[in-house]
Amino acid sequence: MSLLTVNNMSKRFGGLTAVDNVSLSINKGEIYGLIGPNGAGKTTCFNLITGLYPADSGEFAIADKPYFPTQIEKVTAAGIARTFQNVRLFNEMSVLENVMVGRHVRTRNGLWAALSRHKRAREEEAQTLEQAWHWLEYTGIAKFAHYRACDLAYGHQRRLEIARALATDPLLLALDEPAAGMNAAEKGTLGELLIRIRDDGKTLLMIEHDVKLVMGICDRLTVLDYGKTLASGTPDSVRRDPAVIAAWLGGNAHV
Ligand SMILES: Nc1ncnc2c1ncn2[C@@H]1O[C@H](COP(=O)(O)OP(=O)(O)O)[C@@H](O)[C@H]1O
Ligand SMILES: [Mg+2]
Repeated sequence: MSLLTVNNMSKRFGGLTAVDNVSLSINKGEIYGLIGPNGAGKTTCFNLITGLYPADSGEFAIADKPYFPTQIEKVTAAGIARTFQNVRLFNEMSVLENVMVGRHVRTRNGLWAALSRHKRAREEEAQTLEQAWHWLEYTGIAKFAHYRACDLAYGHQRRLEIARALATDPLLLALDEPAAGMNAAEKGTLGELLIRIRDDGKTLLMIEHDVKLVMGICDRLTVLDYGKTLASGTPDSVRRDPAVIAAWLGGNAHV
């Protein structure tokens, strides 16, 4: 079953067509990759899917229902959570508080009511706290819960972003270059975490530069080049695709 369907999505910036008629369909329970060289339009695709700015054209559906990614609130309500290519955390807040903020978008009373003394708000706050701890443990950073977010190592900041996104209980988790800046060992454990998230029932869309990581964990992927789809399919079929080998993978075709 298709969780997210995108048909003929395009975006121009002045004279530049950053995303040119891209279509893709992500099945429930898979890790879907979006790869391609710098400037290929990957982040712009994410920004259109997550409503950061409007597409010039394109149709979107979540679980076969039309979906209009016009406002961030609608995107979250539709069940999409994302991380950013450049880490975006509340730096002065604690690691735990950063995840609680993610959780608050799902609770009935919201952040400000939670600060009041109302009984239901207090109960909800206790649940929010419990859930936040759960996601910190799940992502392996619970021991840093009381650090300020800005004092975490970079790889842990990236995990914190994932924990915060998971706390919104999304159907689709969209990750923009989650392994950027990580060493080989960190990439390996990140790959294991992403596979676990998938195996626990989530659907993932990820942009990634590290071809080995992408080919190792994605079920299917799309290769973008100059805003257009160059190829899509399983890692094996994409790896053997002559257009991909010629245009991009080149010397990396053995991976
Ligand atoms: N907000 C923007 N305004 C103008 N041009 C942009 C904007 N965002 C991206 N671009 C341009 O669109 C193209 C695709 O960018 P991007 O989606 O960031 O690529 P990728 O993530 O694949 O590296 C690039 O040429 C980039 O300079
Ligand atoms: Mg990018």
